Amino acid sequence: MLYPIVLTLHSWLRWIVLALGLATTISSARARKQSSPYERLHDRLGLLFVAALDLQVTLGLVMYLWLSPMTHLAFQDPAGAMRSSPLRFFLVEHAFSMLLALTCAHVGRVRARRSTSDADKHKRAAWGAGLAAACILIGIPWPFLPYARPLARLSTEEAPRQELAGAALEETRKLYELRCGPCHGVNGRGDGPAAVNLVPRPRDFGDPQWQTATKDESIERIIHEGGRAAGKSMMMPANPDLDEATVKALRAYVRRMAR
Ligand code: HEC
Repeated sequence: MLYPIVLTLHSWLRWIVLALGLATTISSARARKQSSPYERLHDRLGLLFVAALDLQVTLGLVMYLWLSPMTHLAFQDPAGAMRSSPLRFFLVEHAFSMLLALTCAHVGRVRARRSTSDADKHKRAAWGAGLAAACILIGIPWPFLPYARPLARLSTEEAPRQELAGAALEETRKLYELRCGPCHGVNGRGDGPAAVNLVPRPRDFGDPQWQTATKDESIERIIHEGGRAAGKSMMMPANPDLDEATVKALRAYVRRMAR
């Protein structure tokens, strides 16, 4: 369960990065106005800012390339992803604005250190950090946007549950209707056309008691390995051809059916 951990770190580190970026900008801009010297404090703030941003971008890239079920589904169908605003946001806008922020922050810092006068050092440090902070502010999935993400992730548990949206949701719905709907029913009520002859009948996924009593891992396991491996009816087929991200997406889809 690496993904929810990295996602939670990424969500919280954002505030540290933003605070350091704004602190660097404001302290250098003010020092320049007051013609104060470029001190150790200014240099340290700038260093902390780029270090925090480097770490943040690294966490982001790890999710982008390996862990995120959203980009995973988006890579499978890039054209479809570009039509869905949440998927496109994470695939393109979010990644691009943060890489731009990284560039501004590093260029500003290098130029500030190379300057000979203190006034120039302050000016370049303030511009670099200020532009970087602006790119970060633009690229964050704020709560008022269609691809909103929580401002404060309190539990790593709930993290993957919010991931199914836009094109990923549509893809998963199609897959579910094709592979699971015949038995479980399109709405997960256990009333698919092929369910009439099944003993035991598939359960109602809407049942809140079942939803809370059942772990994510056991839903994923039964989808991947089938009913027999999980000590249940062998009529629940295995899906060995589905990769981990797709199985997780199906699990999230089953979770969405809770009442
Ligand atoms: C051929 C019919 C059939 C198909 C197709 C099918 N299932 Fe099932 N599934 C069952 C039956 C029957 C059970 C009940 C097993 C039991 O209770 O012993 C079951 C059980 C389950 C359970 C466990 C519920 C519990 O009681 O804990 C999950 C989760 C599940 N299926 C998900 C899926 C998903 C997702 C798909 C599509 C990828 C799918 N199933 C496809 C028949 C099917």
